[in-house]
Amino acid sequence: MRYSFLAAGALSGVLAFACLGQAPVKKGNPSVKMQPYGKMPDGSEIDLYTLTNVAGMQAGIINYGGAVVTLAAPDKSGKFADVVLGMDTLAGYMQEPNYFGALIGRYGNRIGHATFKLEGKTYTLPKNNGENTLHGGNAGFDKRVWKAREMSTANGPAVELTYVSKDGEEGFPGTLTAKVVYTLTDANELKIEYTATTDKPTVLNLTNHSYFNLAGAGVGDNLQHQVMINANQFTPVDEGLIPTGELKAVKGTPFDFTKLTAIGARINQDDQQLKFGKGYDHNWVLNKRMGAMGKAAEVYEPKSGRVLEVFTTEPGLQFYTGNFLDGSVTGKGGIAYPMRAAFCMETQHYPDSPNQPKFPSTELKSGQTYHTVTTYKFSAR
Ligand code: BGC
Repeated sequence: MRYSFLAAGALSGVLAFACLGQAPVKKGNPSVKMQPYGKMPDGSEIDLYTLTNVAGMQAGIINYGGAVVTLAAPDKSGKFADVVLGMDTLAGYMQEPNYFGALIGRYGNRIGHATFKLEGKTYTLPKNNGENTLHGGNAGFDKRVWKAREMSTANGPAVELTYVSKDGEEGFPGTLTAKVVYTLTDANELKIEYTATTDKPTVLNLTNHSYFNLAGAGVGDNLQHQVMINANQFTPVDEGLIPTGELKAVKGTPFDFTKLTAIGARINQDDQQLKFGKGYDHNWVLNKRMGAMGKAAEVYEPKSGRVLEVFTTEPGLQFYTGNFLDGSVTGKGGIAYPMRAAFCMETQHYPDSPNQPKFPSTELKSGQTYHTVTTYKFSAR
């Protein structure tokens, strides 16, 4: 085991981790602990970085896909539980099809008909979701090995991940250098900061694909979780989950989450959009100024009292209720994840923006720096 700064903190981190699910966790100094996680088929090493903050909260991140593999958050009595779905091994992450905890790039969500035009040129992408491209193609950023560097910041322990995506990778133009910094702040926030530059005009939409269950990963379904989404509109989709281009008012529809409402309250209503998604799998148009940090959503789980608040600089939020989970993937601790075992809150630009002139642009030019921030804040009440 290789320890980084603040060995005492790292030790308390080990204690906290060993006690997951038992109350309460020992508090201590913030730390980053790095340990080997597995080897890629070509022999390259994958490491696990465990960030521990002053409150004893922990986030485990691997440099394969930049995935958040564990996230231990306290309930109303201070008892910690791992609140994200995931796998126990690197091989598990390499095989599972759900993008558990992973960084998504180059383009989060779908690009219709696996093609787009940019500056007069047509680009063709892999079709990995029917006729469309989902989450960056066959080998998106979730399947790449990132270079990792531990960091100690004033706000808490952090790890910086870097990936250079070659010109033409998965059909996208430009050599793109992407950096993602995960910080576990002392205010119990997992802060994710994304930056990127390119040497040619390209399109970019980075996000994180964590599946949350605030009762604990593998503990029942998401239907009792109460959700608020700070959005008066959403982007309806066609059968292939490609936006029609319309921004539709949520008022009077099962997509109105302007007040805390249980996921299960309306998910089975007879509604064409819910049928297309097999539940919620849509992009909400956030009520906020473009590029400004603002509250996107809040989720409350009544039994544990855990609360997740999502803040972002992004204009959209893909709220996905795990409709395509089907029990066929056995996750951490040998627990199978059935349909609706968790939910995702993917902060992003809207799906298919490269083909939708009315949506905020996802173009990144050379000389520009892409910069977005998303914070997942945990508390309990
Ligand atoms: C998409 C879903 C997809 C899921 C996992 C979500 O972001 O919107 O349609 O099934 O990711 O792949």
